[in-house]
Amino acid sequence: MISWVGGKSIHTKWIIPQLPEKETYDVYVEPFTGAGWIYFKGLGISLNNHTIIFNDADTLLANDWFCCVNRREELLEECFKLPPHNREVYMKIKEEILEIDSNTIDLGDLDIAVKHLYLISQRFVSASYNLPKPSSGKWERFLLDLDRKADIFDNINEVHNMDFQEVIEKYDSPRTLFYVDPPYYATESYYMHEFLKEDHLRLADCLRNIEGRFALSYYDFPELSEWFPEEKYPWYRHAAKNVMGTRKGKKIDTSRGGKDIEILVKNYSANDALSDAKKELIEF
Ligand SMILES: C[S@@+](CC[C@H](N)C(=O)[O-])C[C@H]1O[C@@H](n2cnc3c(N)ncnc32)[C@H](O)[C@@H]1O
Repeated sequence: MISWVGGKSIHTKWIIPQLPEKETYDVYVEPFTGAGWIYFKGLGISLNNHTIIFNDADTLLANDWFCCVNRREELLEECFKLPPHNREVYMKIKEEILEIDSNTIDLGDLDIAVKHLYLISQRFVSASYNLPKPSSGKWERFLLDLDRKADIFDNINEVHNMDFQEVIEKYDSPRTLFYVDPPYYATESYYMHEFLKEDHLRLADCLRNIEGRFALSYYDFPELSEWFPEEKYPWYRHAAKNVMGTRKGKKIDTSRGGKDIEILVKNYSANDALSDAKKELIEF
């Protein structure tokens, strides 16, 4: 639906089969929702008997999802009033958004959500507010998705704007599944919300102590095997095309054909993951 730094749009096909059978959990939580690709493109309506929780520390983004979930009809009505791909309108809205102090936003602010979504659904690169080529049709596609996918939005129970730890502690239970996708190590500066090395450590401590299950996305870094030894936490590795922008300053390793190894660290065994017969993905 929207482009977001570190978004998992191209990774749903291998991540979803690594998640536990949906019958084995009741609550699904994304403590770092971002663009929510695993939910929107993958799990979507298949979780219609579950409690679905979104959370992101970025207040503008959390407000977008809050309005998409709780004020969808009004949001659509206002969004349809804006012209697709209009440079003048885009630049004016960009200035307004950049001036907003996100600490002053109350979740549910429709006007801000319309404007922010206008920018982030059309922008060229997910880390900037640059307008793409006029032919992109991105705004129209976003509105179509928002309109057609009412069920998927209706299934989301809560949207929060909290720190990850608060949300993990609030929803932890033996029947909770957390899909955890923090800012990757050394790419933290791409996000509005600062994420420091101590936050990675705090996340590791928090996940090691939960009652529920988690699947955690990362690239490898020296401390990862210390925090999550493979003997105890199964790692699933996937070679993915190096995506510009997510690995600032890192040379592409040509020995692997320009691919990075994405890692999914889990606190459950392979037997809990989907069987081959159930790898059916629901495309958003
Ligand atoms: C890698 S992105 C998530 C991408 C997402 N899985 C997707 O498919 O689009 C990480 C997200 O974590 C959010 N974030 C950063 N620090 C956070 C914190 N302390 N608590 C919760 N969310 C945080 C960022 O705003 C960003 O949206």
